[in-house]
Amino acid sequence: MSFGALSQNAIMALNKGAKIGNFAHNTGEEGISRYHLEYGGDLIWQIGTGYFGCRNSDGGFDEELFTKKVAHNAVKMIEIKLSQGAKPGHGGILPAAKLTQEIAAIRHVPMGHDVVSPPAHSAFSSPIELLEFIVKLRVCSGEKPVGFKLCIGKKTEFLAICKAMLETGITPDFITVDGAEGGTGAAPIEMVNSIGTPLRDGLNFVNNALIGIGIRDQIQIIAAGKVASAFHILRLMALGADTINSARAMMFSLGCVQSRRCNENTCPTGIATQNPNRYKALDVYDKSTRVANYHASMIKNLMRLVASVGLNNLNEIQPWHINHRVNVAETKSYAELYPSIINQCLLTDVTIPKVWKKHWQQANSNHW
Ligand SMILES: Cc1cc2nc3c(=O)[nH]c(=O)nc-3n(C[C@H](O)[C@H](O)[C@H](O)COP(=O)(O)O)c2cc1C
Repeated sequence: MSFGALSQNAIMALNKGAKIGNFAHNTGEEGISRYHLEYGGDLIWQIGTGYFGCRNSDGGFDEELFTKKVAHNAVKMIEIKLSQGAKPGHGGILPAAKLTQEIAAIRHVPMGHDVVSPPAHSAFSSPIELLEFIVKLRVCSGEKPVGFKLCIGKKTEFLAICKAMLETGITPDFITVDGAEGGTGAAPIEMVNSIGTPLRDGLNFVNNALIGIGIRDQIQIIAAGKVASAFHILRLMALGADTINSARAMMFSLGCVQSRRCNENTCPTGIATQNPNRYKALDVYDKSTRVANYHASMIKNLMRLVASVGLNNLNEIQPWHINHRVNVAETKSYAELYPSIINQCLLTDVTIPKVWKKHWQQANSNHW
């Protein structure tokens, strides 16, 4: 979540919480502000279609600026944002009401208007070019891990990236899968409610696609979508997630009361506003402790769940460990609900599962 969507005090409290708890803080597409650097928490620098923080005067990607900024020791990974669950196919929006002089200067945009990032990237226009862009960012960053974030839409489009990986031998270090149920600071309501693949289906699909092309062990999968408890983490890990992002639950730990005014600049808790009279009440010391405590208690409870399942290690969790009620009289395990495919089965015509065939055949590494 960006500085811009969130206040400076909220960003500082999250970053300080991340430092205390030894976890990572994603910058959101606004990029790195001075508030992200105040307390030294590890950063994942997100780069969206607006290339904020590494943007040239035409609004395109500026390699020189990126190389300079990515060298900061706090930046541990780079995430290219293709889409997010709350508004797939739609660029980011910062409402004019929340655009301050400081944010306008960071973003290189004029005051008085909504800041709308384009829906698509200008630095690449095909799956192969996306992977080449990943290589460019890796080289410019001195080999820091680079991945991308998306909410699954058409299966063919993701499989096109998989084909590009096979053809080029280039793989991202991680893929972040966002669910349709994801949140946002601002988006058209129809987008938020109706568009994109829900997380568990999207995650299962991405996990299987990588298994199917035989490179699952080379890529970490990060999952995000309404994770607020240890069980939410466990069930996503059972479906193949290696690690989890949390946005709104972290806002709750900052004191969010879900007044749902993130786009109006009138957030009563000082979290999603740029009004100093509102955010000054958010005490960075107190809230960072709460952020760290929330994270620590989630991890502790997660370990309890792992033990109660009878496992020694979180990595041992499997789909059949989770049961889900499907109707009043029946439960099914995730293994039944989310079937997995065989390693490398997408690589030869005869082994491609029937339900995958059409999507795989339509996928083309040269266009989405
Ligand atoms: C206030 C707010 C701002 C967000 N800003 C971004 C953003 O800049 N980039 C992005 O990829 N996702 C953004 N998101 C989406 C979250 O990163 C996350 O993918 C989504 O909300 C699902 O996680 P959650 O259910 O834990 O909130 C934002 C979400 C919220 C609530």
